[in-house]
Amino acid sequence: TAGKLAEEMGYGAYLVGGSVRDLIMRRPSPDVDIVVEGDGIAFAQELSKKIDGKVIPHPRFATAKILKEIIRNGEKKSFYIDIATARTEYYESPAALPKVETSSIKKDLYRRDFTINALAVKLNSKNFGLLIDFFGGQRDIKDKKIRVLHNLSFVEDPTRAIRAIRFSEKLGFKISKHTENLIKLAVKMSIFEKLKGPRLYEELILLLKETQPHHSIKRLADYGLLKILHPSLEEKKLYSELARAYETVQAMELLFLKEKYRKELIYLMVMLWNLEDHERQEFLQKICVPENIKKEVIENIISAEKALQAFPSEESPVEIYTLLSSLNIEIIILMMVYAQEQQKKAISFYLTKLKEIKPLLRGEDLKTLGIPPGPIYKKIFDEILKEKLQGRLLSKEEEIEFAKNF
Ligand code: CTP
Repeated sequence: TAGKLAEEMGYGAYLVGGSVRDLIMRRPSPDVDIVVEGDGIAFAQELSKKIDGKVIPHPRFATAKILKEIIRNGEKKSFYIDIATARTEYYESPAALPKVETSSIKKDLYRRDFTINALAVKLNSKNFGLLIDFFGGQRDIKDKKIRVLHNLSFVEDPTRAIRAIRFSEKLGFKISKHTENLIKLAVKMSIFEKLKGPRLYEELILLLKETQPHHSIKRLADYGLLKILHPSLEEKKLYSELARAYETVQAMELLFLKEKYRKELIYLMVMLWNLEDHERQEFLQKICVPENIKKEVIENIISAEKALQAFPSEESPVEIYTLLSSLNIEIIILMMVYAQEQQKKAISFYLTKLKEIKPLLRGEDLKTLGIPPGPIYKKIFDEILKEKLQGRLLSKEEEIEFAKNF
């Protein structure tokens, strides 16, 4: 559809960036990026009409997002297509001919981070599928190399250093010697001291989410980048704690918890765990964490610390339930990372057994038994729950008997 439309509008349209890399590597790609030699927003508007999507335009950047909802296996999924306008360059030709548009896709690709992300595939129906590779991206994918396109890449955009580690870790690629030297040089030249803004947070979060955090954070430290985020972060303990957090998250995945949780925030909380209050604030400030997340992670750490201190020494299901049922799953997983053996067992017991226990009776059932509605209902349900946590009142009939005699 996009190719036909590009022909109709007289534009060049290309699939670019990570989606081409993933296509060549036969990896699933989460998003689709298209660059248009022409009016990107107009192209997005037309394309969304054809595929019945919704356009979110950003005129300031001449870009647009198309949101397309698809139903797969009965579940609604959101799918995004990012559309950008290629940088176009005009130059006056010496013979004073009219202004000529140069190949703008090349310019566009040259601004990108690494060769493996600077590939494009032509989408126009004429030449559909043609792979455009100006900078040796295909060869670098084959050689498993992360390589910048030019020497000023990290000066232009320091967050690329974090991206280099992310791609290296997640794809199993090596950062080329020259690119590595450029990162080290940028550290020496204090380029990263200026590293700031929401993109820093976004890249750090992606790094934590997409890689084994103990490996990638150690690599940040090896390049001298971790202490720039906060001097107190460089601590041997941090890597082993992150490794433990990673193992904990892996173990959780085996439990197939129904609840969703953000593992990257758990890792971020582990990074904050051993810092003083003011250091936590400084670090979160430095990486420009959104205010709501900042508040959430700080509060969650405090809740986890408190809950670990208040942990019942006895293996009492009721006490374990009482302590943990008011806490969200991210706090509970964080507690797991720092819990002692006995506490870990209790938390696992809660997650695998206790958490799902609920009275089978409903308010309706109590009404049928002739019990008038009121605060007594809550009391009855609480007592039934307590009994069930201790392995009693397994059937509905037993619960009915219990309620009758309450
Ligand atoms: N890009 C860049 N410099 C950055 C961020 C992004 O040059 N600091 C370019 C890259 O060409 C990248 C594209 O913008 O491929 C899209 O960025 P993003 O979606 O962040 O990365 P992907 O390569 O799509 O990676 P992933 O598949 O992991 O999302």
